[in-house]
Amino acid sequence: MDKIVALCKRRGFIFQSSEIYGGLNGAWDYGPLGVELKRNLKDFWWKSMTQCRDDIVGFDGSILMNRAVWQASGHEATFSDPLVDCKTCKARFRADQLETSVCGLKPSKSPKSCGGELTEPRTFNLMFKTYVGSVEDDSAVTYLRPETAQAMFVQFKNVLEVARRKLPFGIAQIGKAFRNEINPRNFTFRSREFEQMEVEFFVKPDTGFEWLEKWKEDRLAWYEAIGIPRTKIHVLTVPDADRAFYSKGTYDLEYEFPFGVQELEGIAYRTDYDLKQHQEHSGKPLEYFDEETKSKYIPHVVEPSAGVDRTVLAVLCEAYAEETVKDEESGKEETRVVLRFAPRLAPVKAGVFPLLKNKPELVAKAKEVQKLLQPLLKVAYDEAGSIGKRYRRIDEEGTPFGITIDFETLEGVKEASSSATGASIAAGQKETVTLRHRDTMKQERIAIADLSAYLLAKTG
Ligand code: GAP
Repeated sequence: MDKIVALCKRRGFIFQSSEIYGGLNGAWDYGPLGVELKRNLKDFWWKSMTQCRDDIVGFDGSILMNRAVWQASGHEATFSDPLVDCKTCKARFRADQLETSVCGLKPSKSPKSCGGELTEPRTFNLMFKTYVGSVEDDSAVTYLRPETAQAMFVQFKNVLEVARRKLPFGIAQIGKAFRNEINPRNFTFRSREFEQMEVEFFVKPDTGFEWLEKWKEDRLAWYEAIGIPRTKIHVLTVPDADRAFYSKGTYDLEYEFPFGVQELEGIAYRTDYDLKQHQEHSGKPLEYFDEETKSKYIPHVVEPSAGVDRTVLAVLCEAYAEETVKDEESGKEETRVVLRFAPRLAPVKAGVFPLLKNKPELVAKAKEVQKLLQPLLKVAYDEAGSIGKRYRRIDEEGTPFGITIDFETLEGVKEASSSATGASIAAGQKETVTLRHRDTMKQERIAIADLSAYLLAKTG
């Protein structure tokens, strides 16, 4: 994990928030590569939900909502963790995580074994309280949303009407959520500000369990499509005692992080609890009229709820590899660090390199190739250092392809070969480049005219 955290900083994936002021616990910033990775992940989720299926529509709710929402949902009264204070070191811990927490004064010990005096557990609401408007009194109180879900419940009727959908149908949303976690930890895994990708999937009451199973399979296939194999995901059937009281069944999809097997996503059968609560508290009907049965009822909900930041972290952990390889130029053995991202998630799809930076004709051609590709995919031009060093750099950044413009590009290839596309390249053919593959380090030629279509097909 330490190596991954160091790489994230070194290469600009993730930085500590407010670092120059000593940081802010539980908050993180995504740097130039991190933001691309995160965006690609969210775009793929969004596409999977709202473009590739016709039973889900998109939505973007506000973070601030009427306090009544949080009263109706039960968050104001019950969204809390048990907390204990240590009278000796003044640190706070989650009462249910004492065994795995670290004492503030004796980091090798847990708060249970360090000898410090702990208070009795008391509840601590995880929502960040704030005031709307200029007067800071009780009537102005609301909270930063602790989940994106509630806006989709309270707008259920509006969305249903405009989407002209019948059950089953879902609403999908990606957005920030905030929880004042007692112990943020494991890098971005447990943060105080994070993003969620949630679907509220509304179904007929007697089909809830069937949809719970379907969603479990669907989500496992999705993780596979972003490079996390099924074998690395543990499906936990959440036991009755640990499930939210309104849920009739929940699966947690857990990933083998370096710090243990931990939750990536929860898929919960939430019954009709949320819509019922909002109907009761708002006094507005949230029922659905079923044309087939000519009956009215409150739909049941199955909710796949995934964390963006946790998935990014899992993708980074899964992609990280160290291997001993022969340097492509000197032939010497060395350690190569490579991020084997699924190409669709890779922050940059290809590096574009002139073989030598002091040859204006190579530089001009490389820039021409860069301009050709830029409108279609994210590419990065680099002319600094030996070509071997530049390949190593893009390996560490997870870029699946390197494109090198060399003398054969300008003068014609010496030998005939088969191109990356399978077409043939004749001896003497100009306007071809070296295409280097990140994972195999294999190099082959490809015509510049074929580059766009080839890269789009491989990274889309
Ligand atoms: N609407 C349901 C809901 O919010 P949850 O299990 O509390 O359920 C869903 O959260 C997902 O959000 C989690 O599986 C996790 O990926 C992410 N998540 C929750 N708390 C988080 C935190 N403190 N830091 C990062 N991600 C978090």
